[in-house]
Amino acid sequence: MSGPITSARRAARARMYTGLSWAHAKVRGDEFSRLMLTTGMRDPCPHYRRLREAGPLALSSSGVWAITGHRLCGQVLRDSRFGVRTVPYQRDAQGPLEYQQGAEEDFSVLGLDPPDHGRVRKLAAPAFRPKTMASYRPAIERVTYELLDRAADLGSFDLMAELAAPLPIRVIAELLGVPDEYSGPFRDYGAIVAKSIDGSPSAMNVPELGAATRALEELFAELLTRRAREPGNDILSQIAADHAADRISPREVLALCRILLIAGFETTVNLVGNGMLALLNDPEQWAALNARPELATAVTEETLRYDPPVQATIRYPRETVHLAGRRIGAAEPMYVLTGAAGRDATVFADPDRFDIRRPARADHLAFGAGPHYCLGAPLARLEGEVFFAAVPARLPRLVRDGPAVRRPMMALRGLARLPVRAG
Ligand code: HEM
Repeated sequence: MSGPITSARRAARARMYTGLSWAHAKVRGDEFSRLMLTTGMRDPCPHYRRLREAGPLALSSSGVWAITGHRLCGQVLRDSRFGVRTVPYQRDAQGPLEYQQGAEEDFSVLGLDPPDHGRVRKLAAPAFRPKTMASYRPAIERVTYELLDRAADLGSFDLMAELAAPLPIRVIAELLGVPDEYSGPFRDYGAIVAKSIDGSPSAMNVPELGAATRALEELFAELLTRRAREPGNDILSQIAADHAADRISPREVLALCRILLIAGFETTVNLVGNGMLALLNDPEQWAALNARPELATAVTEETLRYDPPVQATIRYPRETVHLAGRRIGAAEPMYVLTGAAGRDATVFADPDRFDIRRPARADHLAFGAGPHYCLGAPLARLEGEVFFAAVPARLPRLVRDGPAVRRPMMALRGLARLPVRAG
């Protein structure tokens, strides 16, 4: 993994979570390509609007299909004629996939098409069932209140560093069953690997990424061996049992552990950060949450619509398809701009207003749709609900305390810093 960066390797990395490839950002001046420039990363909405003027499906001058319409985004994500890969995996026999191409090939559920996708997804699904989710609530509340109490003592602090980043990392480490003595290395290596999932060159430090990926996999392998010997009531013990029963290959095991660990690092973090930024920018909405903390669920959903952590994903038609009056050839990349779908005025009234009291809520597509619908959505929702209810309880006079800094990412969207004062 530590060899020179190639476009194939970069594309494989990029596909890991969002499916996006920077190779597609080719033509300067093209509306789609502008999404990957600094101004587009700071605020993609003007570009979404201009792309949408060409209809719900636009062919950018860089030759890339961009879907901005809410209905069409949902339709493509649910349509079995579209997949996440341009070519199927090479395989010698039926059954679990073996390690053939390289560590950077995406063997996680996100990078698999049927039939492998369904088999691997089914193995992780029990961890996210409603009954299991309810059992996670006490741990999430404990971690949330611990972090808030520590932040309250600091007075002025960076909300991203003190609250948004540690929350999902500590929660997923607990749920996976990562023992305390491993939590430091898991957090540090996981953060490096997670940074690469936007696929942007600025997020890539290839040798560092290769070393962190290997180190993370070694830690998981060690922990899985331990859990196979002494099972606990955690997700890794379940995966170790599936592995022992030959339902999942060694390659898939490590890819599954890795995606479960890092999926929340770059997403739930930004649900918390983007939501707090929107609330603190609008004193009337912040006051409404303070008066009625039960609006926490609505804050979570409105943040996911208004400023979602995942702005886009990619699909490839398996065959020539006709969509919205256009002919699209097999394997042509189609960017599904779910961030734009949340701002579609035909579905959401006054879409550019952050409003936690919106009456009826259409599905915002922030967790995708169809077969790859986010497995961790119930967990992310629960973390959002607990967090946005706990902040007014512990930090009711919280205010902004300096400029927020956006991270230079396109498919993922979040803040590097959000300075605040406990008031
Ligand atoms: C606010 C937080 C989150 C957001 C916005 C989010 C968003 C998404 C989206 C949009 C997809 C679909 C991508 C596609 O169709 O190409 C996805 C898939 C996935 N997410 Fe999340 N996610 C979040 C949190 C989590 C968490 C906490 C976990 C696990 C601990 C998780 C695990 C996964 C997995 C395993 C998949 C792949 C599902 C599949 O391919 O079948 N996510 N997520």
